[in-house]
Amino acid sequence: MFMSTLRSPISADDVAAVRRPVDRASLLPARVFHDPEVFAYEQQAWFARSWICVGREEDAAAPGEYFVASVASESLVVVRGRDDVLRAFHNVCRHRGSLIVTEPQGRLVRFQCPYHAWTYELDGALRRAGHTDALVDFEPDENGLHSASLATWQGFVFVAVEPAGALMEQLADLPQHVERFGIGELRRARSIEYEVHANWKVIAENYSECYHCPGVHPQLNRLTPYDHGRNLESDGPWAGGWMELTSDADTMSTDGDSHGRPPLPGLTQEDLRRIHYFVLWPNLLLSLHPDYVMTHRVEPIAADRSRVVCEWLFHPDTMALPDFDPSDAVDFWDLTNRQDWNVCELQQAGTRSRAYVPGRYSLMEDMVHAFDLMVADRYAEDGVVTRFRPRHDKWREARSV
Ligand code: FES
Ligand SMILES: [Fe+2]
Repeated sequence: MFMSTLRSPISADDVAAVRRPVDRASLLPARVFHDPEVFAYEQQAWFARSWICVGREEDAAAPGEYFVASVASESLVVVRGRDDVLRAFHNVCRHRGSLIVTEPQGRLVRFQCPYHAWTYELDGALRRAGHTDALVDFEPDENGLHSASLATWQGFVFVAVEPAGALMEQLADLPQHVERFGIGELRRARSIEYEVHANWKVIAENYSECYHCPGVHPQLNRLTPYDHGRNLESDGPWAGGWMELTSDADTMSTDGDSHGRPPLPGLTQEDLRRIHYFVLWPNLLLSLHPDYVMTHRVEPIAADRSRVVCEWLFHPDTMALPDFDPSDAVDFWDLTNRQDWNVCELQQAGTRSRAYVPGRYSLMEDMVHAFDLMVADRYAEDGVVTRFRPRHDKWREARSV
């Protein structure tokens, strides 16, 4: 398989400036949002070698159902076999290398290459390759589809293009913070795709702070004021925290009302008053509400372009209610998403300027710093993991809590 030799494109000085404590640190150098060389490095060194969420188990629920995923420029197909096992394969024919499936999702009995019609079983085995019987040193058994690693957690499907250790190692202590939400039981009610003219890290940074909320999201800020919350200490490649609902709101929706949707089973009284937000390295965003879960998958397309898939997951019992209608939650977040994409695109455009030098973090952006530390540690390639300490004093500064 193609492997390039990789060298970090970011200087030790730039990395060191981010790695200082948040009240002394500088933001990432602008190059990391624009330079195709940096983008290529991140794709190969990070996205190809990490577990990347590509969808939900329900996307290939029955034998033969499949969906195509793109990770680090690789086209992969995730398919459920006759034995009910989910597998991931490179969507590449072993003959002359044509892509095999061309529809983004569907159901099939076996794979058939559109070029010379070689066929493969759902478990990847080569079944038929015309006029190859008399070939010398050609073993059909050795010409099945190349597989990629696949693992699932809470209904999410993760793939790894290159060996990436165990998925649970990458998740570290995140599962214990979200287990009670039972995300594995939830099902998708809605999905919206966006194309954002911004680097994937711009989007993750934007998600990690509510410093911008009073001005950019007046609707959101009415339900969860930007200075009511806490960030969590993490033991792995994730950053997260929660925000507190005002007393007259019980979820994030167009009017703050959950419209008869009961809370998710297993939540604590505290959970009913909070929205939890998590960024899981590198590109899965989890927003846990009392009555639903919203996810964003940020797929880098180019240095300055990303595809974002936003999904709304609900409990199946709630979805079965005769008057179930997720529009209030979907419309609220669709508006919020678009408000965010606007400022992300403004930042993307502005950081191209020769006049821009990395700015400073406000103390309301310590979770942005937490995300950037994950980035900087990986550019550094020195094996050091910089610890993130939430700055709870910032909340006291903003208001007495
Ligand atoms: S390239 Fe697939 S059968 Fe020839
Ligand atoms: Fe926002």
